[in-house]
Amino acid sequence: MLEKFEHGGDVYSAIRQWQVPLEALYDFSANINPLVTVPWLKHKLDAYWEQILHYPDPNYLDLLKTLSVYHGVNLDTLALGNGATSLIHGLVKVLDPKRALLIAPTFSEYEKALLHVDCTIDYVEGTVRSGLYTLEDVKAKGDGYDILFLCNPNNPTGQLIKQHELVEFIKSVAVNQYVVIDEAFIDFTPEGEANSLIPFCAQFENVIVLRSATKFYGIPGLRLGYLISSNVRVIKALVAVTPIWQINVFAAAVVMEGLKDLSFQLETRLLIAKNRKWLYDELTQLGFCVYESEVNYMLIYMDPTKWPVVKVKAYLARYHVLIRDCSNYRGLPQGMYRIAVKGQDANAHLVKAFTAMSVLLE
Ligand SMILES: Cc1ncc(COP(=O)(O)O)c(C=O)c1O
Repeated sequence: MLEKFEHGGDVYSAIRQWQVPLEALYDFSANINPLVTVPWLKHKLDAYWEQILHYPDPNYLDLLKTLSVYHGVNLDTLALGNGATSLIHGLVKVLDPKRALLIAPTFSEYEKALLHVDCTIDYVEGTVRSGLYTLEDVKAKGDGYDILFLCNPNNPTGQLIKQHELVEFIKSVAVNQYVVIDEAFIDFTPEGEANSLIPFCAQFENVIVLRSATKFYGIPGLRLGYLISSNVRVIKALVAVTPIWQINVFAAAVVMEGLKDLSFQLETRLLIAKNRKWLYDELTQLGFCVYESEVNYMLIYMDPTKWPVVKVKAYLARYHVLIRDCSNYRGLPQGMYRIAVKGQDANAHLVKAFTAMSVLLE
C-alpha cells in the first residue's frame, strides 16, 4: 500500500526488492525526458568540472541571468531552490496561509507543505475517474482563500489549461489571494512556453510560477527548481530563508546549457507527441482504458476487481517495469495508474509487458 505522500520514481526500493541492477529497470513511474542520456549530460558538463573544486557562486548570477533572459523577466523576480519541491515548502512557510484551495487529484507536496503550517485545505474535486477539473469549479469556491495551487499541466492527469483561460481566471481572483501555477511539465506540451503564465507575472503580483529542471532536463538526481513572481517581497523573503549554496554546480550547468539548446527542446516536444500517440494507440488496442494527455505521461485505468493492484504490480515486475499506482492520489479511484512516455524501445517493452499481462489476466 502506498503511503499518502509517496511518489513515483522510487527505483531504489524496486532494485532492492527485485534484486536487479538499476540499468535493468524500466521506470515508467517517474516522468523524465527520454532524450537525456549520460553522454548528453557529460557533454553538457564538460566545461564545468573545474568549478566543482570551488563553492558555487552564492549569488548564482550566471544562472539567474540565463533564466532572466530566457524567460524575459527581471533578475529580482527569480528565486532558486534545490528542486521545485523545496520551493513549494519554502513558499508555504514564508506565506503562512490559513486557508488554501487545491485541485484533487494533483501533486501531493502542496497538501503536505500546507498541512505542515496547519493550513485548512479545501478541494475542487475533478470528474470521476479522469480527475479533470474546470476553472468554473475553482471560481465557484469563491474568494475566501489565501492561496490556490494550480498544477498546469496537472500531475497526474496531464490536463493543460490554456494561457488565455488562465489569464481570464486570474483577473477574477481577489488580489490578496496567491495563485501558484506549477509548470513543472509545461515544456513537454506541444505548444511549450505558449501556455506559460510567466509573461503575465509582471502584471499580476499575486501570481507565482514554479518551474522544475527535473523532468525536462532529466536531472532528478541533481535537483534544481525556480520560481518567478513580480512580488519582490515574496522573493526576498524566500531568498532570506534559503540556505546558501543550495544549488550544486552541475545542476546549474545543465540548466544553463539546456536553455541554450533549442533543438533539444524542440526535439523533445516532437518525440513526446509522437511516442505518446503510439503508446496510447497500442494500449487502447489491447483493450485498456487510457486517458488522453498533453504531456509525457498518461493515466490508465484497470478495474481492480478484474485487475487487482498487487497482481498488476507482480506481473509488471517480471518485466522489471515500474508504473505509478495512483491509489494514494486524493480524487482518483483504485485501479488508476500513471505511465510515463519514454523512448521507443522502452515504450515497446512496456507494451510487451502489458500484452503478456492482458493474456494472463483474461
Ligand atoms: C507537478 C510537480 N511539481 C513539482 C515536482 C517536483 O519537482 P522537483 O524534482 O524539482 O522537486 C514534481 C515532481 O514529481 C511534480 O510532479
